[in-house]
Amino acid sequence: MGGESPRAPRRVPPAGAASRSVQEDMSDDLPDGLVVADGDARVIAFNAAAARMTKIPAESAIGRDFRDVLPLHDAEGRDWWKYLAPYEGLSTRTRHPERSLFLPGGCELLVTAAYRRDENGKVSRFTVCLRDAAHRARQERDRADLVSTVAHELRSPLTSVKGFTATLLAKWHRFNDDQKRVMLETVNADADRVTRLITELLDVSRIESGRLEMRRQVVDLPEQVRKVIAGRVAAGDPEDRFRFEERGELPEMWLDPDKIDQILGNLLENAVRHGAGTVTVMVEPDAHKEGAAVSVRDEGEGIPPEAAQRVFRQFWRGPGGNRRGGTGLGLYIVKGLVEAHGGAISVRRAPGGGAEFRFTVPAGAPDYPS
Ligand SMILES: Nc1ncnc2c1ncn2[C@@H]1O[C@H](COP(=O)(O)OP(=O)(O)OP(=O)(O)O)[C@@H](O)[C@H]1O
Ligand SMILES: [Mg+2]
Repeated sequence: MGGESPRAPRRVPPAGAASRSVQEDMSDDLPDGLVVADGDARVIAFNAAAARMTKIPAESAIGRDFRDVLPLHDAEGRDWWKYLAPYEGLSTRTRHPERSLFLPGGCELLVTAAYRRDENGKVSRFTVCLRDAAHRARQERDRADLVSTVAHELRSPLTSVKGFTATLLAKWHRFNDDQKRVMLETVNADADRVTRLITELLDVSRIESGRLEMRRQVVDLPEQVRKVIAGRVAAGDPEDRFRFEERGELPEMWLDPDKIDQILGNLLENAVRHGAGTVTVMVEPDAHKEGAAVSVRDEGEGIPPEAAQRVFRQFWRGPGGNRRGGTGLGLYIVKGLVEAHGGAISVRRAPGGGAEFRFTVPAGAPDYPS
């Protein structure tokens, strides 16, 4: 395509200064780049995100032909605007679906466009929306990683379940009772592992989609800690493995008791499974006495400082984490549950070595005052 250039500067009446500044303010809040051209292809709006993505200051874009400001081309190097001919093409066009296009520096953008036409079908406004392709690619990669990790995590226990059941069915009479018991115990543990993984994945999906429902009520936090410790002892952990300390007086705490159980359960389990020695849980008012701080500390190897952020990511496991049968979702969920309470969690090296996880939660208030 080619022909006469439609890009010669034309006169346009200046836009109303007052209304433009309000609109500019609003469009600057958008996460996507927004470029609006008038019926003569001149840029009349260029928001902050567009300036950030294209590295073109808004002042230098306003008033110019948008095709000069954004010389987009496709992967084959075709000038996209010549190809599209927005002002000359079919007057039935209303929008263009998302396309991946490039600026001269090689910056990739995901571009959509929409037309506004007057009663004669002539384009009166052309709006271009820009999205950061790198961000989208990262999201898609994360999702693909998640799918492959989940598939892998499900496959290993299921392979063992299938292997042992097939062997037992085929050679039932060749095994004695003890051998059969060992195999069935493995099958049982692997089935538990799959169930646990699925429960954790459902929690992850609730956290990520913001569908975590909070049911706040007055919670006696020290009592809750004692209960979780008693639960672990009842399940077989030696009693002297745990130490509980309570300091100062807490305000009335409005928390979701099930979620607090889940947080404490996860941290204690990690301390027992990944740590060593005595596990000390301490509950005290937070620095401002407007909430509580809980720390769970063990005497094991601890977490190297460079991994202190990474431990809260999905599927992160330290060396040996896999061997200990974890999926690496526990701390990600714990962080999501603490944050759902408006709190925060961090990890550091305990004074005597080992890991110390400490979370704070504000006192909270009833969800629905009655
Ligand atoms: N107290 C601790 N001491 C040492 N390492 C720890 C401790 N707590 C957690 N970790 C490390 O952090 C990793 C992530 O913990 P996380 O609870 O998220 O997953 P997990 O325990 O492996 O699996 P699960 O999803 O079953 O909880 C663990 O694999 C372990 O390497
Ligand atoms: Mg864990």
